[in-house]
Amino acid sequence: MTSPAAPPDARSVRALFIDRFGRSPDVVASAPGRVNLIGEHTDYNGGEVLPIAISRRTWVAAGRRVADDPTGPVLRAVSASHSVMGTAPLSAPKRSGEWWDYLTGVAAPLLEASGRSESLDLAVDSDVPAGAGLSSSAALEVATALAVAGVLGRRLELDDAAMIAWRAETGFVGVGCGIMDQFASALCRADEALHLECDTARYEFAPFADALLIFDTAIPRSLRTSHYNERRVECEEALRLLRQRWPSLTSLAAAEPEQVLEAGLPSPLRGRALHVSRETRRVRDAVAALRAGGRISRELLVGSHESLRHLYECSRPELDWVVERAITLPGVRGARLTGAGWGGCAIVVGDEAALREAGPVLAREYESRFALVPRLWLSTASPGARLEP
Ligand code: GLA
Repeated sequence: MTSPAAPPDARSVRALFIDRFGRSPDVVASAPGRVNLIGEHTDYNGGEVLPIAISRRTWVAAGRRVADDPTGPVLRAVSASHSVMGTAPLSAPKRSGEWWDYLTGVAAPLLEASGRSESLDLAVDSDVPAGAGLSSSAALEVATALAVAGVLGRRLELDDAAMIAWRAETGFVGVGCGIMDQFASALCRADEALHLECDTARYEFAPFADALLIFDTAIPRSLRTSHYNERRVECEEALRLLRQRWPSLTSLAAAEPEQVLEAGLPSPLRGRALHVSRETRRVRDAVAALRAGGRISRELLVGSHESLRHLYECSRPELDWVVERAITLPGVRGARLTGAGWGGCAIVVGDEAALREAGPVLAREYESRFALVPRLWLSTASPGARLEP
């Protein structure tokens, strides 16, 4: 299983800041990546999701600097994994296509709201794998929101940090994602799953004691974005058609499966809508099971996967193989693809000792079958974003 020699932490990001900027940071914050236990492609359809934070985090150290640039405040950004220092104006910033857009998109509105005009220096260190569908961008945005707010003397509630992060991702970086990732990174708690209603941003927690094996199929990310946007359009169209019959329908997820069946939607909209409607109900069943002290059943986990595979059509043979093979291994309760799909990660749920055994078996067989080298991480439900002391 992949495990770096020295994982980053508050100390390493502080040291990076001092090394590159020649002084100590004012504030250090961190935020985790996430996986979704169940409730896929429901967030942008007004439905419900059930993510946990993973044990991998992004650390951001931040410090103020007197704005010495005549054009106004400037952001400087360094990262342990990039050699180039990024710079961006903080008044009327423009998207650059570079990794520090995530920082600029968060920092600029916070600075504007504060009425101050200092420049900001930021250092980033992270062990959240990028491009694997584990929300490395949300972790970066949320940690930045907490760190920058701290520097500006503002105490930010975690759900406000999530909202600022989500606005940066959708409005500035320009990725049309739902609210799940930023809320999960900000709000999750150790040993609990976050039950989030995406239309109202209301949330509650449910105990989650299982371990997870996160299995990254090593299928490139580029496949995912275009299909994701296509699905969003299909869902909007399905909702439009359903509203012709039920005008008061608030969202696609609010439609009952029976309504979807009765509406006679054309293919593939019928499958998309049925998935969203049923998946939201699966989330509720999963939460009820967790609250009753139980576990999320194989039926729910694999049911979600099969629905994503056949109705939402966002799986791939590699992901299907991982799910099918994993559930034959001892101590594995269930498995499903997680995140957007079309590659990325599957989760295998069960008890930790069993997953430690299952991991190498799955990795070995996957590699010889698909000629791809997967990455695997074991995780439990971990703490969300925080300011570091
Ligand atoms: C991606 C998006 C999330 C969500 C999932 C699918 O991870 O970033 O907002 O839509 O896909 O559930």
